[in-house]
This record gives sequence, structure tokens and C-alpha cells, in this order.
Amino acid sequence: MQQPLFPALPHMGHGADYNPDQWLDRPDILEQDIELMKESHVNCVSLGIFAWAALEPQEGEYHFEWLEQMVNRLYQNGIYTLLATPSGAIPIWLARKYPEVRRVSREKVRDEPHGRHNHCYTSPVYREKVRLLNTALSQRLGKHPGVIAWHISNEYGGECYCPLCAAAFREWLKEKYGTIEKLNAAWWTSFWSRRYSSFEEVEPPYAQGENCVHGLKLDWKRFVTRQTEDFARHEKAAVRAGGSDLPVTINMMTAYDGLNYFKFKDVVDFTSWDAYPCWHGEQDDVSLAQYTAFIHDGIRSIKRGQPFVLMESTPSMTNWQRVSKLKRPGMHMLSSMQAVAHGADSVQYFQWRKGRGSFEKLHGAVVSHDCRSDTRVFKDVAAVGRRLSGLDAVCGSPVKAQAAVIFDTENRWAIDMAAGPRNCGKHYLETCMQHHRALWEMGVTTDVIDMECDLTGYKLVAAPMLYLLRGGIAEKLRRFVSEGGTLVGTYWSGVTDENDLCFLGDWPGDGLASVYGIRAEEIDALYDGECNHMESCGHALLRHERYKLTELCERIHPQGAQVLARYAEDFYAGEPALTVNRFGEGNAYYLAAKAGMKFYRDFYHALVEQAGVDGARLGELPSGVVVSKRRGDEADYLFVQNWNATPASFELPERLADLETGKPVHGELTLEPYGFRILCRKH
Ligand code: GAL
Repeated sequence: MQQPLFPALPHMGHGADYNPDQWLDRPDILEQDIELMKESHVNCVSLGIFAWAALEPQEGEYHFEWLEQMVNRLYQNGIYTLLATPSGAIPIWLARKYPEVRRVSREKVRDEPHGRHNHCYTSPVYREKVRLLNTALSQRLGKHPGVIAWHISNEYGGECYCPLCAAAFREWLKEKYGTIEKLNAAWWTSFWSRRYSSFEEVEPPYAQGENCVHGLKLDWKRFVTRQTEDFARHEKAAVRAGGSDLPVTINMMTAYDGLNYFKFKDVVDFTSWDAYPCWHGEQDDVSLAQYTAFIHDGIRSIKRGQPFVLMESTPSMTNWQRVSKLKRPGMHMLSSMQAVAHGADSVQYFQWRKGRGSFEKLHGAVVSHDCRSDTRVFKDVAAVGRRLSGLDAVCGSPVKAQAAVIFDTENRWAIDMAAGPRNCGKHYLETCMQHHRALWEMGVTTDVIDMECDLTGYKLVAAPMLYLLRGGIAEKLRRFVSEGGTLVGTYWSGVTDENDLCFLGDWPGDGLASVYGIRAEEIDALYDGECNHMESCGHALLRHERYKLTELCERIHPQGAQVLARYAEDFYAGEPALTVNRFGEGNAYYLAAKAGMKFYRDFYHALVEQAGVDGARLGELPSGVVVSKRRGDEADYLFVQNWNATPASFELPERLADLETGKPVHGELTLEPYGFRILCRKH
């Protein structure tokens, strides 16, 4: 069922971070903002993100009039507000009066008052000040008809090593383990005499402290997520206490590995994220588009299928990347529409207008210092707004995936901290992206999920390098396959349990070996530039005879599985490199080594056919042209995207209609450089 995110705004959102608190002495600018917003088809803004000092210039002295006036004026002009809680930047009076609100680094140095995103999530003073302010804000504006959602704080992240956080960590551990003996066992502290006699002896992993006990490091990261999530709940509760029940979001950051975002699933009512790909940079645009698609799919999957918001993106350039390149003509439209194609119901920017001073004065914005609307950037933005306003049919439509790639944050932490087998790079993220890329190129809608996600409804699940298996996961995968699912596992799976203790017995552990019908004996690491190959045993699944292998090659033994390809070189030449095991009603594939895109393309092409996985399916598309699908009540909307800087043409295998013109489309379709079309396939 199609359901818009915001009942008051049943259209695609288009807007930006708006910081009028920087311009309160310039009513002319504020007037002009409204006019220019209308001209660029902006219908929503994120307001007050860093406005704490303007809202509470002195302790307990609230100044909400200016904000209320802004919300009113925007609303009168048809522009809705995503109201921010301003906790992302601490006012100087607060940082000075209550040092405990300032973060302490891993080196145990407390911050001086400065910048932003540097508060302690544990500090009772900080929590209380945020509570009071959020509740007051909510009382004042939480029921305003122009406010449609809460933008809670800004890009939660970072860690604090202050005594309050250390004490909270110990409390959390006590709750988790109950006794110090259990903690010692879980952390394997008999190694190097790291045994604790009491919880009081446990310290966070300071820079000069304990960094070899993996259980400690893993639990610290889990604690940081828990503490941040708890803080987000605290902010939300304060907003609710003020009487507002509007939906809440937090703006997340790309593949940020400091937090396990899936743990925020029940805190947020919808997800949103900030996307800043370096287009036309060191990485080719097609690869970068796939990376961005991977993140879109991951953020959407936190609230499976539900639309999300692209909360920030730059209308032109950033100012913090190594080289700040302008977006080439077409790219702004295409990258904005890519978000919509993957499920976004709003495209928003950082920021509306460039400030005159400080760190972000040269960062791209919709309105530059020339205050004009006849600029290239402004016109590009207005064009996106115009096209979004024609996409009501798509608004609220879910993205339904029958394929999923497991990219699990805790697993990522564990793989990254493990010493061996390839400390120059095990490349977990990149590997998950390769599996996703093959599906993305084919137009197969794919979720990017956490290992704890429900697998119901998926026909194909790729679980590359599932090194750390939390309790119950192996069982879930076993059930998925036995009930008919297709599972793809790889080398370096089922190595440790949730405490990062290696499984005893056959690997992949916790019983997964029997699902794959193999056992893994040892893993060979290759230097950069070194390779091996696998040779097909002639199975129809593989179109080519030989595929290159790099980085990690596992030696496995079939225990019931059929061998599909074998290593071609080295002392393990002839041994299995790819297997399949019929397990119950399903199939479990095991790839023993890191392959390249040639393999993944062939392999997933065959698997998608075999497992009958739904996709956009527009036949063979030229390289760099992809299609993503949203499922509306009446039609599927196919977003055909050309990520090449050159035009691309191909033959459409069916008659479709252009969503925007309503005209039929068939035969040869040509897309401009960085062009796209939205085609309807009626149900
Ligand atoms: C984001 C942040 C914004 C702005 C932007 C600049 O990470 O949330 O406030 O700083 O980066 O690219």
C-alpha cells in the first residue's frame, strides 16, 4: 500500500537545511529566502539544527519567537518544517559552566568548548538541558500545522571516554554478564593475564589502554551504540512529553561504522541520511553510483520497504573533500532521482543559503553569496523541484525486495579488529558491495540488511564473510534454506560467536557447515597483485571457464555439497572453490575465495533466474545504465538511469509509458549523459 511519510505533505518533499538563526539581523535576506524557496519548488525545510544558542542564549532563558515566526511564515507560503532538536552543537555558556557535557577523547583529554558534535551522551546535565529544551520546543511548536516531523539532533556519532561513560559502561557490562566470571569467560581474559577481579577494574579501550581483548573492544562499540540510541530515545521522549506525536528521524551517515544503525530501528519513525559522493572524482561515477545505491538500500532496509528521506546532499560541491569538484550537468538531477528510485520520498540539501563566515562559508548551497536565482546551481535545484512535484504517483510507494545482502555492522567491527589473516585489507564492505553490484546492475531490487533482520519474503540472501555469528543466526539461515531459500555464503564465515570467540568443531560454525555441506580447513592470504583462479566444472551456472581469485582463498572440503568450480593454481589446485548444497527445499552456495565482478555477474545472473527473483527486468542494458523499481498501487515505476558521461541507447523489451509525459515508450530508448527516465509498468 502506498502511504506518504507525512500526511500533511502527500507529495515528494524538496528542501534543505535552513539556518535563519544566522540571518536574524537581515530581514531582507529572510524575505528573499521565502521567495527563492518558492521559485525553486521547495516545500519543506529542516529548521534550527544548530540553533541552541539562539533558542537559549542564557541558561533557562528561551527565545522561541523568531523560530515560531519562521515556521509561520514558511507555512503561510506552503513550506513545511522538519523541526530540529538543536542538541548537535553545545552553546558556549553550557560548555563552560558544566565541563561534564564536554567529551573526553580516547587519550583521556577533555574537549575545550568548540565546534559541534562533541557532547557526552551520558552526562546527566547534558541530558537534562536537552530534555528541558526539547520539551519546551515541542510544547511551543510540536502541534503547529506547518511542522511535519522531528529532525532529532544531527548526525549522532563519536565516542566519549569520560569517567561518567566509563561508569555507565561498567553498569552495562554488569547487566549483560551478571558476574565477572562470565565476563572473563566471554572475553577470554586468561590470555596474557588480562583477568578482571571485579567490574570496577574494567576500563574503556583508551588509546594507551587495553586494546588486545577483542571482547572488550566489541562490547565497547556495542555500548557506544547503546548509549547513543538511549540518548536518541531520551530526546524523543522529551519531544513526546511536550505533546507532539509527529514522526521522528535521525540523519544517518553513509557507511559510518561508529554506530550500528539497525539498533535505532525502533527509535525512528522513518529513516534518513546524508549523502555526499565525490562525483567525477578519483572513483568512476558508475562505481560511486553503486556505492550510493548500496547505502540507499541499507538505510531503507532499517525500516524495511518504507520510504526514507535524503536529508542532506550538496546542490553543487562540498568544502571538506580533498578536491571539491562541481557536479557536471545532469548529475544533480540524476543523483537526486537515484535517491527517489531507491525509496526516498524527499530530496533535501545542505544547505539552503551559504553563510558569510566560518567553516562552511564555501560549502555548496542552493543560494550562494551572490543571492541570485539565475545561477546554474539554483536552476538545477529548481529543475529537481519541478520534476519532483510531478511524481505524486510515486510518493509513498514501497520498495519491495526479494533479494538481500547481509552487511552487518557488528560483523564489520569484528572483522576489522581481527589480527589476521590479511591485515593489509580483508575488505568486508567492498566484498558486500560486489555482491550487491551484480544485483544492482541487473535491476534486482535488493535490501541491505543486518544479520538479525527477518528473512521472510526473500528468495535470495547473500551473506558474504559472515565471520561473527550472533546466537540464533545460523539457525535462521538453516531455516531459510530448508524452506526453499537460496543462500550465498563465502570464505571467512562462521569463525566466531557473538563474543568473538572462535567456534570449536567444523567451520562455518554453529552448524552452518552442514547447511553449506562443506567444512573449511584453513585460509590462504594473497599479497596485493597476487592471484589464483578457479575453473568451472562445466556446470550451467557459470558462463566462463575461468575466474580470477584474489586476497583470500580458503581450503574447503565437501561434506555432501556438489563442487561447481575448483582452484586452478598453487598447492591446493584441484580443490573446491565453489560448491552448492541442496538443503531441504533450498540451495546453499559457498564461494571459498574472493572473486571479481566477472564471476559475480555470471553467478548472480544464473541465481536470479533459477530462484525466480523479481527485478525491474529491462533486458540487457548497456554498461553504466541501471534500473531500479518502486512498487506503486497501480503500477511499477522503473527509474532508468544512465551513469555515463556519454549518451546510452538500448532496445526496450516491452511497451511502457513515460510517467512524466504519459506517452508510450517502446523500441529504442536513448538517455542523455547522466540522463534518466521514469517508466510505468501497469499492474
Ligand atoms: C554534514 C552535516 C551538515 C554539514 C554537511 C557539510 O555531515 O550534517 O551539518 O556540515 O555535512 O557537507
